[in-house]
Amino acid sequence: MTAPLVRPRLLPFLFLLVYFCNLCKIIASETREREIRFPKPQSPYLSDAVVSRIAFGSCANQSAPQPIWNAIIDFAPQLFIWLGDNIYGDNRRPLRFFGREATVGPLKNTPRFFPSEESEMRRRYQLAKAQPGYSLLRKRAQVIGTWDDHDYGLNDAGKEFSEKNTSQRLLLDFLDEPEDSARRRQAGVYASYLFGPKGKQVKVVSNLSASTGPIFYVESWGHFPKERKRLYKLISDSERSGVFFISGDVHFAEITRYDCGCEYPLYDITSSGLTQAVERTVPPPLDYLLRLAAWLTPTTMRVYSSTCQYKSCTYAKQNFGVIEIDWDTIPQSIKFEVRSVNGNSVNMVKFSLTELQPKKMNRIHKQEKYRQHCILEIELPWFRRHQLAFAFFGTLAVYFVALIILVWIIASAGKTFVQKLKID
Ligand SMILES: *[C@@H]1O[C@H](CO)[C@@H](O)[C@H](O)[C@H]1NC(C)=O
Ligand SMILES: *[C@@H]1O[C@H](CO)[C@@H](O)[C@H](O)[C@H]1NC(C)=O
Ligand SMILES: *[C@@H]1O[C@H](CO)[C@@H](O)[C@H](O)[C@H]1NC(C)=O
Repeated sequence: MTAPLVRPRLLPFLFLLVYFCNLCKIIASETREREIRFPKPQSPYLSDAVVSRIAFGSCANQSAPQPIWNAIIDFAPQLFIWLGDNIYGDNRRPLRFFGREATVGPLKNTPRFFPSEESEMRRRYQLAKAQPGYSLLRKRAQVIGTWDDHDYGLNDAGKEFSEKNTSQRLLLDFLDEPEDSARRRQAGVYASYLFGPKGKQVKVVSNLSASTGPIFYVESWGHFPKERKRLYKLISDSERSGVFFISGDVHFAEITRYDCGCEYPLYDITSSGLTQAVERTVPPPLDYLLRLAAWLTPTTMRVYSSTCQYKSCTYAKQNFGVIEIDWDTIPQSIKFEVRSVNGNSVNMVKFSLTELQPKKMNRIHKQEKYRQHCILEIELPWFRRHQLAFAFFGTLAVYFVALIILVWIIASAGKTFVQKLKID
């Protein structure tokens, strides 16, 4: 007789935190917890099934073509999670530095963004819902989600925004939230979902938030050190294993991990956006510079792996995120991936679920290759933190000196030539 295989302790559940940006002020006032248990009658695709394929995305312009849905449908997710900026509900005035309608700079006298009427917001949601790929996905997968600033109604708006109740209603309509749902009566759209049978549960919590960040801004949570500490403490105190984050908002994708927040690495998979992406805003030769900038941006949390499409391990074209859990292998494993508009993998990490279990005296901290994931960017030496600026100004300086030398050479050559002419 052979001894039974020793099964690794199954994770009680995977805990998946969805965060979105700019709304931390609102969150502070959200205190009610609620839980939706599946199956819901209208979600035949999840029924009591084990969830092992999840896709997510953010930042979709309802008025632009959205070809990426084809790749998402090809992945065949059971669950799709909207991470915000599901539509662009607000309006943007042109960039102007001077005049009566200066929208940027020291002479700014007009806000760059302004909200839409309710009817216009509704129309934009209809456009989004009518995107052919998305309509098909809705038939094949359960769709859930949260908002960010542009679908909340206004760029960078917070708790004070007066139309927030309208925006909430419109988002919940878009997500087909039942009329009698408690989510329609609470302040904010936070929610928590529990999928799958015991031993193979996935919990999705959409609640918090803390990230604001321009292009390639490192470590957005760094702006909210207190909140971040509180969050880490919450995770540690709960003694929950399997917690990781998914996020959107920034118009590029990356995978990060922080190894000293709790007793196992905290991963964050950022996917942004479904249509909006940094590299689409610049003409072709500049995308190399953007990638170079991303590569030079000091980062301690970004996970560099050989599977990245680019050396920077950021991906600033249209993308979506993917989570695949293999519940049936021993040990169980999980894969985080970023995929391109064609469905190709552009960044991926895969590991055993046991890595997301608390370990007293975490052994991974002793490994050199993970040590840097314990450093916060703000703790880096100043020359590392500013290396991008050095590279930029250094390059400018070199060009400037080269230009001066060139001018000097031309001037002295010209002088010699004139003198020669005179002599002749
Ligand atoms: C959302 O956050 C608040 C405060 O941060 C917390 O009290 C509440 O339980 C959370 N809700 C969910 C659904 O996790
Ligand atoms: C969305 O797409 C439309 C059509 O291409 C474009 O006119 C509009 O500026 C885009 N909006 C944003 C926020 O990018
Ligand atoms: C918005 O909704 C909240 C919670 O449902 C409610 O307490 C508040 O009075 C509403 N505000 C307005 C302006 O209707």
